[in-house]
Amino acid sequence: MSVQTSDIVDDVARDFAARVLGWYDRSARVLPWRIAPNSGWAPDPYRIWLAEVMLQQTTVAAVAGYFARFTERWPTVADLAAADDADVMAAWAGLGYYARARNLLACARAVVRDHGGTFPDSEAALRALPGIGDYTAASVAAIAFGRPAVVIDANIERVIARHRLIETALPMAKREIRVALAPLVPGDRPGDFAQALMDLGATVCTPRSPACAICPLMADCRARGRADIERLPVKPPKKAKPHRHGLAHWIEKDGAIWLVRRPDKGMLGGMRALPGGDWADVLPFESGIVSVDHGFTHFDLTLTLVRRDAPTEAPGAAAEGGWWPIADLDAAGLPTLYRKLTDKMLERDA
Ligand code: ADE
Repeated sequence: MSVQTSDIVDDVARDFAARVLGWYDRSARVLPWRIAPNSGWAPDPYRIWLAEVMLQQTTVAAVAGYFARFTERWPTVADLAAADDADVMAAWAGLGYYARARNLLACARAVVRDHGGTFPDSEAALRALPGIGDYTAASVAAIAFGRPAVVIDANIERVIARHRLIETALPMAKREIRVALAPLVPGDRPGDFAQALMDLGATVCTPRSPACAICPLMADCRARGRADIERLPVKPPKKAKPHRHGLAHWIEKDGAIWLVRRPDKGMLGGMRALPGGDWADVLPFESGIVSVDHGFTHFDLTLTLVRRDAPTEAPGAAAEGGWWPIADLDAAGLPTLYRKLTDKMLERDA
């Protein structure tokens, strides 16, 4: 009797998945959107989708409070679809990457309008919804619907790059990681498998000082014991970030300040903000009352606060403005950049 190569591959994959799932059964993190392994409960696709969108570019710790507030206020996708844009944008304030919040609403409305309020259950149909990219389609298909999708986030990238000693730099390495991972995804419990690899990356195969001694993948990990394991996955060379400067306007009257809504397109699109000019590469001539530094993905910004007497509609001709009570500024839903600036200004006045 001959042993087929494909049988050996299947055995390797089964063994890999069994170790990963066994570890998950013992060590899964308890997370607000997660169904505990083997609990028998069915996941709610709305909650899985919401969590996956929130978790992109953001840590589990940062997301927890937002997830609780969103699901309390909008318990179903239909509730979210019916929400006011401004309320959702304000509730998202502080999470960053605000295009995600606009897409979140667009997606909820598409699910209600085109799918009768039920999320579609295939990767391809999910991918066709607004704001759902390859990652979210795969993770929701696997976690919410038990589809054997290949889910790859930064944690999973690290686990696989190390296990297979993939020394190609990101983002080029993504293809090799996908080719390595795809045959390992089990038909049974693919959602737990994906979440297990995420947890493994977050708690054991950490960027610094990985805890290889307790890793279920130690036996055949090709990077185990290497002095340079922290180098994996190999990062692309860092690009120098440009530095920009801008002015924001503090216009105060009777205990209120003038706030605008930023235009939908562009940085912090759709978010409430202080009015002000464009952000440019040159220092402003005016010296301000206070200023803050803020790092965006592609540039750093120094924003300086100056007093103005009368409302200005900038930025963007279409910006809507209004007076907002200073005492109630917490509820304005200002993104972190403006929050830092108003906090500093009010601290100074106190
Ligand atoms: N990061 C992104 N999605 C996650 C999930 N479902 N569980 C844990 N960490 C995650």
